[in-house]
Amino acid sequence: MNIFSNHKKLYTTAGTLFLGLTFFTAIMPALQNQKNTEPLPESKPLSGDALAGKMIYISEGCVACHSQQVRNVEMDKVFGSRPGMAADYANIERTSFWQNTATLMGTERTGPDLTDVGNRQPSKDWNLMHLFNPRTVVKQSIMPSYEWLFESKLHPAKTDVIVNVPSEFLEGINGKLVAKKEALQLVAYIQSLKQIPLPEGVKSPDFLYKKQVKQPLTGNSKTELDGQALYIANCQSCHQANGEGLKGAFPSLKGSPVVNADNLELYVDIIMNGYDARAEYGVMSAVGTNMEFTENHVAAIINYERTSWGNTGKKVKPEEVKKIMDFIKIKATAAK
Ligand code: HEC
Ligand code: HEC
Repeated sequence: MNIFSNHKKLYTTAGTLFLGLTFFTAIMPALQNQKNTEPLPESKPLSGDALAGKMIYISEGCVACHSQQVRNVEMDKVFGSRPGMAADYANIERTSFWQNTATLMGTERTGPDLTDVGNRQPSKDWNLMHLFNPRTVVKQSIMPSYEWLFESKLHPAKTDVIVNVPSEFLEGINGKLVAKKEALQLVAYIQSLKQIPLPEGVKSPDFLYKKQVKQPLTGNSKTELDGQALYIANCQSCHQANGEGLKGAFPSLKGSPVVNADNLELYVDIIMNGYDARAEYGVMSAVGTNMEFTENHVAAIINYERTSWGNTGKKVKPEEVKKIMDFIKIKATAAK
């Protein structure tokens, strides 16, 4: 056969085969995927600070330890309310003409998955402290510090974002610790990472390997929620396991007048709507509202905090808490 002695024919045949196969196994399926997949109605493309933050996320190599994909298995349930799907990534644009689309799905999970971290950990203060030195908020963390995203200033300007970090982490720093633009952009990106809800009426796919049906949330003692577990999941990252908080950032709940006094209204209001009363502390986000707490959740947490760390507050019943939650809602709508 003269194809083996004629280099032109040989290369043309091999090249045509290569291009043909590429078209059928890579390009056509990709076009098909793009045609059949649309971004979810509520998803918006990144812009501004969040987009700049994504580039910093890439350049700092965060993807080496963090995935952004909720797999359809039971153990991934903690990372999102439903398994991820193609539509979740359909809004991600090409980075630039020369750079491919960065979905940042990742392959390693040395740290937790970040698909829904914007909902799980919405606090800007927490994220800034954590980036400056993860050990400030999570004692045993093995995540590296990103101190170069911060600077110290003796006389910060009014517009500077000051990060309140306990003094033992501030060795060698004179004046106030200020977040650089890059830190703020990176946090804007982290805060933008939220799993988009499916359109109303669409049932989300179930996680595989379901183990057990959840108990209904009622207030009787048999099914009372585990206040300690709720505290660990929702409050401990800031107020710490020993309830003592962190000096200069998060107040102590041990011996706190709010926790121990009988003024339930302020306590419930703080849990549901957050708190920003004092300059020496950061801001507490609306943890309860974000997590859609019911009176059963709130009562379980209050009872845990009132009976831990030497606190002596009176236990509450979910019905009491419900009355206050309704009252706070009415007050909030009236104020609008
Ligand atoms: C060497 C691996 C490693 C790298 C690199 C890394 N992380 Fe982490 N990250 C972790 C670990 C481990 C945790 C869990 C402990 C903790 O909260 O500090 C974590 C936790 C987090 C959390 C909190 C997640 C949650 O569910 O509460 C965020 C947000 C985060 N990392 C963001 C980042 C960003 C942004 C970068 C890049 C600038 C980064 N991480 C780089 C290992 C890493
Ligand atoms: C992102 C960090 C963060 C998380 C998470 C958080 N808090 Fe807070 N919390 C704060 C900060 C900061 C303050 C102080 C705000 C201020 O005074 O300006 C505060 C204040 C409080 C106070 C008032 C204490 C006092 O003596 O003044 C209570 C009570 C409280 N939080 C309860 C909770 C509970 C319960 C949860 C979990 C459901 C929770 N917090 C989750 C940051 C947090």
